[in-house]
Amino acid sequence: MADKTINLTLKIWRQAGNEPGHLETYELESISTDMSFLEMLDVLNEKLTLEGGEPVAFDHDCREGICGMCGAVVNGIAHGPEKETTLCQLHMRHFRNGQTLVIEPFRARAFPVVRDLIVDRSAFDRIIQAGGFISVNSGSAPDANAIPIPQETAEQAMDAAACIGCGACVAACPNAAAMLFVGAKISQLALLPQGRPERSRRALSMVAAMEREGFGNCSNERECEAVCPKGISIRNIARLNREYLRATLCSGDKTPS
Ligand code: SF4
Ligand code: FES
Repeated sequence: MADKTINLTLKIWRQAGNEPGHLETYELESISTDMSFLEMLDVLNEKLTLEGGEPVAFDHDCREGICGMCGAVVNGIAHGPEKETTLCQLHMRHFRNGQTLVIEPFRARAFPVVRDLIVDRSAFDRIIQAGGFISVNSGSAPDANAIPIPQETAEQAMDAAACIGCGACVAACPNAAAMLFVGAKISQLALLPQGRPERSRRALSMVAAMEREGFGNCSNERECEAVCPKGISIRNIARLNREYLRATLCSGDKTPS
């Protein structure tokens, strides 16, 4: 089958650190619809470099939808128009010949722009760090069925563990809330016996870190769930709220670290 190509007008956010940013317009011709979105940006960067211009800075790593590094807002949608798809897994066949694409970084107070489309998401790392450790018995490997876990519970925990920490949920939320991310991280441990001993301390610490980093609060807009490339459900936000409430009411270590 003949390779189909499209021409595009790109309006891309260009910003150097703390300098004010602006949208810059680029024309790209003969883009193969088999390319991924990031490959299309690679083509643009090659063109800019050959012309003596400054390539567009964007984050990426695995390009397989598993590492959480890529991310940009395409025509107002974090990770672009395809449901449950990271930017690196988005293909150009989903765009029309002659279409204009406005490409911006994830915007949130807690995600300052580093350069162009790259934002600093280390606030997520600090929240994870605040979550601390889980208790695991050392020694020889336990039998696989030594700790029986109902299949439904295991699946819920695994679904929550699918979060790749990309930050699209924050970018899509009008409050720049990180509650889907934190809800997923809290849930994946709180649902399993191995994560129970420290559940109170973990919930209090991670929520405190989330607030410290300047993320907003959930007001049930569900925009986070709509853009999440891993299909993380807002039921995880409900579980986060329950875990937090339980931690504040129950006895145990209530000191956020
Ligand atoms: S909850 Fe979804 S959108 Fe948010 S960080 Fe995790 S994978 Fe990304
Ligand atoms: S580059 Fe790893 S998820 Fe997109």
